[in-house]
Amino acid sequence: MQLNDYRHIVLASAFRIVAIAALGIGIGTVQVHAQSDSDSEAEEATVETGEEPAFVMPRSGPFSPQTIAIPNSRAIGAWARSGHSDASAEAFRHWDEDGEIPPVCAVCHSGAGFRSFHGLDGTDPGIEGPVAIGGVVDCETCHNPQLGNITEITLPSGVVHPVSGAEAACTTCHQGRAAGATVEKATGDLPADEVNEEIGFINPHYALAASTNLGGYGQVGYQYPGKDYSGRFMHAKPITGCVSCHSPHSLSVREDTCLTCHTTSDSKAIRISRFSFDGSGDTTKGIATDIQANADLLMSMIQDYASDVVGTAIIFDGAHYPYFYADANGDGVIDQAEGRNVAYNTWTPRLVKSVFNWKVVTADPGIHAHNPHYALELLYDSIEDLSGPLNVDMASLGLLR
Ligand code: HEC
Ligand code: HEC
Ligand code: HEC
Ligand code: HEC
Ligand code: HEC
Repeated sequence: MQLNDYRHIVLASAFRIVAIAALGIGIGTVQVHAQSDSDSEAEEATVETGEEPAFVMPRSGPFSPQTIAIPNSRAIGAWARSGHSDASAEAFRHWDEDGEIPPVCAVCHSGAGFRSFHGLDGTDPGIEGPVAIGGVVDCETCHNPQLGNITEITLPSGVVHPVSGAEAACTTCHQGRAAGATVEKATGDLPADEVNEEIGFINPHYALAASTNLGGYGQVGYQYPGKDYSGRFMHAKPITGCVSCHSPHSLSVREDTCLTCHTTSDSKAIRISRFSFDGSGDTTKGIATDIQANADLLMSMIQDYASDVVGTAIIFDGAHYPYFYADANGDGVIDQAEGRNVAYNTWTPRLVKSVFNWKVVTADPGIHAHNPHYALELLYDSIEDLSGPLNVDMASLGLLR
């Protein structure tokens, strides 16, 4: 009983914040539940309070928190523990010092920005000016009666993708910010192995599952000329979209879903493919391991290419943007200038492309489930592209595309 009591108190306080801040609940009619242990056994009684009540209390006792049911408590409780509600996360606090979020960022980094962008707040679509800081992915982001009117989303590649329901929300924010087209535009016809000051690291951005899921059709990766790429990873029915696997509130993967078809719910251990893609010959491990192995191989070839072909060693530091740093003297330590780390500044078109693909694949921690085939293809083609100037015999690596 102790634990149960505690849960209700937590949910009650979570509800109050959400109700007041986001939903504006507390008007006119209040649903009061005389409740035993579970919500489903609750009996409902409706109390007419007339004016907006200062306190939500049943008319008769006993007054203790665990007897007061909170509508939507499960959804609120799950959401309150998810990344979407984490107001302390970098994804929501990045603009604290500026005091406002620029429109281009607010689309995905604030519920209010999202609504403004899509015209769900009664204004025309598009964000007029900066958006206030402090917002998260609140309830109204996904529970908006107008959301159903959004029928297509333009991806960073320029591809216009039809959407319906909650998918419109997920696809807006989890599409990344750059695509192969961005890389093509930057590198154009420049000679592949010539350093060019005009080009630099292109960041696909983060958590871009909706784009990786759409694969060669969504074109988030840099797709090498003359190669075919797997399209959207349809998985298998009844898996049709993001919330087939992710609980929309906790965001965690519903592992029991996987067990309908797979023998394990550990996504990293799941494998259907009967071939080894990473040259190990081991098909007992999950497909995620092949993807990781080829991503690691690509990274080591990126480093060799930087040192041997470009002539300036590159150091990757995943914790600090822009992640790729210069090590001109090759001592294994990032160069310093005026007390600051020197970002890598001798990019060639070939390097920009392979680094972009490496980043696309590793920016999506669920890519093995979102689109394993596309991930393997992007990695293979980037490895192959670097193998030329590095004089590496592709066949000797034993990789499969
Ligand atoms: C308004 C933009 C927005 C929408 C809409 C949105 N997300 Fe997110 N999502 C984010 C941001 C920002 C983060 C990172 C939050 C953080 O770092 O705490 C995130 C994090 C996540 C995570 C990582 C898990 C975690 O707890 O950090 C998953 C999974 C996820 N979202 C799935 C979804 C799904 C599925 C949908 C659609 C039902 C969706 N998101 C809709 C912006 C959005
Ligand atoms: C298309 C949607 C989208 C747009 C537009 C967008 N972001 Fe993001 N951003 C995300 C998502 C989703 C995440 C969550 C990644 C995570 O932490 O899981 C994120 C994460 C971040 C992070 C946290 C990275 C980290 O290492 O934790 C920063 C910083 C950030 N974005 C900055 C920006 C800036 C600055 C802009 C505007 C110039 C911007 N974003 C525009 C979707 C977007
Ligand atoms: C990222 C998008 C997203 C956010 C944010 C979100 N929801 Fe939901 N919610 C959904 C989706 C999608 C469904 C439908 C679930 C399904 O069909 O399986 C849903 C279903 C529900 C349901 C129906 C019962 C249930 O739990 O499935 C309730 C109630 C609910 N949400 C309340 C809320 C409340 C309250 C908040 C804010 C605390 C919230 N939601 C935030 C996407 C979201
Ligand atoms: C087949 C099931 C499945 C589908 C469908 C699916 N995901 Fe995932 N997703 C996963 C798995 C598995 C992970 C890895 C989770 C882990 O290891 O914690 C993941 C991870 C993620 C992450 C990174 C979470 C983190 O911890 O940073 C995001 C964001 C995400 N998914 C969003 C989406 C979006 C948006 C969609 C719809 C376009 C989607 N997912 C569709 C299974 C799925
Ligand atoms: C309805 C059956 C079904 C369900 C449910 C299902 N899967 Fe799958 N899964 C498949 C099929 C079929 C494939 C092979 C699809 C293909 O390659 O075209 C697959 C492929 C995969 C792969 C890639 C394996 C490989 O070797 O390429 C991963 C990872 C995966 N599923 C993870 C998950 C996770 C995680 C869940 C639960 C959240 C899940 N699946 C739920 C049927 C299912």
